[in-house]
Amino acid sequence: MKALILSGGKGSRLYPLTYTNAKQLIPVANKPVLFRVIEAIHDAGIDDIGIIIGNDENGRRVQEAVGQGERWRVNITYLPQDAPLGLAHCVLIAREFLGDDRFVMFLGDNVIEGGISNLIRGFEGSDYHCQIVLTPVEEPQHYGVAELNEDGSIKGLVEKPREPRSNLALVGIYMFDDHIHEAVRQIKPSWRGELEITDAIQWLVDQRLRVHPYIHRGWWIDTGKPIDMLAANSKVLEELKPQVHGFVDKDSKVDERVTVEAGAQIINSVVRGPTIIGENTRIINSYVGPFTSIYHDCHVESAEIEHSLVLEHCAIVDVHTRITDSLLGRHVELRQSDFKPRALKLTLGDNSRLGLL
Ligand code: G1P
Repeated sequence: MKALILSGGKGSRLYPLTYTNAKQLIPVANKPVLFRVIEAIHDAGIDDIGIIIGNDENGRRVQEAVGQGERWRVNITYLPQDAPLGLAHCVLIAREFLGDDRFVMFLGDNVIEGGISNLIRGFEGSDYHCQIVLTPVEEPQHYGVAELNEDGSIKGLVEKPREPRSNLALVGIYMFDDHIHEAVRQIKPSWRGELEITDAIQWLVDQRLRVHPYIHRGWWIDTGKPIDMLAANSKVLEELKPQVHGFVDKDSKVDERVTVEAGAQIINSVVRGPTIIGENTRIINSYVGPFTSIYHDCHVESAEIEHSLVLEHCAIVDVHTRITDSLLGRHVELRQSDFKPRALKLTLGDNSRLGLL
């Protein structure tokens, strides 16, 4: 089997972080979401991976970060897409790479409980032409939605219906055999001008091909918005097996749900898990609360932070208000300023958001 990971898109709902980084490279529990996807695919025994990237800076950043895949002992082929013309369009442009093999298609910004290894193995050994993953959600109108017959088979699929006929959303994980190539050629663009994979799967259903709906009962997060990034971070932190490789001094209190990466130092501080402190990060005279990921080379001193995501090389020093529900990009500095006037002094990127007391 092969794998196709979709890793394009502007990530506009995550501005300003995505001006300078691809959203799939933003770390969740100190590891980019895309890396987690590659690991999961490798764990399922697939080593031939195509990645669809935008023909833009973020596409180049993905190539730079992932390389040829040596780190995971997989083979990566990059497939640039000139414009976001839909998930089915991705299958069209990957035709040559995919050949006639069965494959799994995975959205590079999706995070799912328990990984995908079992799903893939189940499909590999089956005679299904396609397997989709469905899960109950509260606002199905934002997703592809499936209606099932009483016997559990698929009655119909609609992309972002105004009046959903069920609460079962299509999760961004799909498995196909070579029939999908005919399907993506047969469908027409939707009202949003995209070739929808949902329509292509409906075409398979119409041809009476075997499309198996797998119902996923755990959590699943499509990390489009800051709030989703924080939610994914919390869920993945809860799944992590905590390890302490860094240094914790005797005046600190660090509970058993905290991961301290190599070279990190925790001095005279309280850290409550689930939390991860990245390589060479220093936490001094501070409080770090649950559901926080602080990435590499950060400096947190005389500050309090919880339920937040902090990327590399940030400094949070002498901040006397607790920080919560926050997302800090790379090289962000938050410091008490002793210079007059006593006022907030801000340098914020375009589309930054600041919640004041
Ligand atoms: C896409 C699919 C949709 C699916 C969703 C899962 O939506 O078109 O059917 O439910 O991914 O994340 P999009 O992210 O393009 O809005």
